[in-house]
Amino acid sequence: MRITIIGVGYVGLVTGACFADMGNRIVCADVDKKKIQLLSKGTIPIFEPGLEEIVRRNLNHRLFFTNNIGHAVRESDFIFIAVGTPSKQNGQVDISYIEKAARVIAAHLDQYKVIVNKSTVPIGMGYLVARIIQKYSTGQTPFDVVSNPEFLREGSAVKDLLKPHRVVIGADRREIAQKVSEIYEPLHCPILLTDLKSAEMIKYASNAFLACKISFINEIANMCDQVGADIHQVTQGIALDPRIGDQFLNAGLGFGGSCFPKDVSALIQMGKKHGYQFKILPEILEVNQFQRKWFISKVKQTLGVLKGKTIAIWGISFKPDTDDLREAPSLEIIPALQKAGAHVKLYDPVCTLAAKQIFKNVQVCKTAYEAAKNADALGLLTDWNEFKQIDFKYLKSILKSPIIIDGRNIYDPHEMLENQFIYQGMGQGTRLYSLDQ
Ligand code: NAD
Ligand code: UGA
Repeated sequence: MRITIIGVGYVGLVTGACFADMGNRIVCADVDKKKIQLLSKGTIPIFEPGLEEIVRRNLNHRLFFTNNIGHAVRESDFIFIAVGTPSKQNGQVDISYIEKAARVIAAHLDQYKVIVNKSTVPIGMGYLVARIIQKYSTGQTPFDVVSNPEFLREGSAVKDLLKPHRVVIGADRREIAQKVSEIYEPLHCPILLTDLKSAEMIKYASNAFLACKISFINEIANMCDQVGADIHQVTQGIALDPRIGDQFLNAGLGFGGSCFPKDVSALIQMGKKHGYQFKILPEILEVNQFQRKWFISKVKQTLGVLKGKTIAIWGISFKPDTDDLREAPSLEIIPALQKAGAHVKLYDPVCTLAAKQIFKNVQVCKTAYEAAKNADALGLLTDWNEFKQIDFKYLKSILKSPIIIDGRNIYDPHEMLENQFIYQGMGQGTRLYSLDQ
């Protein structure tokens, strides 16, 4: 099939590369000149496991990159929109990138095409896209607009795209949704055909539910801290009930990234616009913010005064296997530690350059051990695999004090005790805490 993808970010690039690998002819178009230049040479501008290999395998054979969006529109029968839909200050969705893409599609609509919206968009956006295309095209060329929300996760995006739990395709004409579903047939996954608005809603409902699970388990973890219970044992116990399941129950610093915070905020704002006041959703965000403060209070209570202390930070990306720092807990925690007078040394396996650009007055280190050397405490913010294979004896010998505050619960408190660390996880029942202590 001939497919154009507008917007070559995490979603657009992974979608384009995987669709090409499945045998389609893909044109990926983006307004970002530098990004297209790099991609045309096979250089991937983001860190995403497995992606570079697929791009290189298909480059200039079935996969093409361009800044000429109009030309890319004319080249294909299916036009996927995968541009960003960031939050505005008030939490509403900034739909301006989608509107711009729709106008370019309109200007170059030379024959019938199916426009497939893959970006996460406010409910009803599909109809707005159709109205824009109708208004700015000659009005003579037929087209259809379909919603096909994306559920991939950064860090496992290629795997998620090639082995999805489900593909959702929403269109008011079933035969058009079926046409789009043919693209996904080689994946042999469940394909759900819905109406347009329901598909758009499924995306927000999925992300809000997952965010809700994380905030829920974080509150239970905080309560475990207070009463001396262990969140690991608690989650094991509840997860054995198949109605609850064992996924997405890792307590810690809360969710970050470009999607959960933005999509929960967007759903709250959409509710307001349509006369419905969500009650659960604002609490999900509040608990999420609180987790960062809870972590900082643990550091303060373990170390006492922070002024003049050196704290090593391991991991700054919002989760492992990505270089994405959007809404990462590190963005709040590091400046808060500095504000309290601490000096921060940090290490992240991939975000070295970004760390130097984003954080002021930090020492960016080349290895985890270099960051830990002579530090008064070690704070773990991202659960990169690299941090799971640590020589504890050596670590203890280089830290000034053997203190570890583990924001992602990757270490076993008993093993830490055996190695004579002063160890704090999140909800591991090792100490009693309250914010005003
Ligand atoms: P991104 O910011 O990584 O990439 C967006 C790209 O669109 C950028 O390269 C930008 O230059 C380009 N762009 C913007 N306006 C354009 C235009 N008019 N024409 C051509 N290109 C344009 O965004 P992303 O993370 O890939 O997210 C895209 C959408 O997918 C969002 O709606 C997001 O909510 C949704 N989503 C993201 C993920 C994820 O894990 N990142 C997962 C599922 C869904
Ligand atoms: C999330 C969803 O999982 C995807 O299905 C969705 O497509 C995507 O948002 C999106 O709409 O963009 P992503 O943000 O890439 O994907 O990453 P997740 O693995 O979901 O993690 C999100 C955040 O939650 C991370 O900060 C992670 O550390 C945190 N998390 C996750 C927890 O704190 N506990 C958990 O149990 C799971």
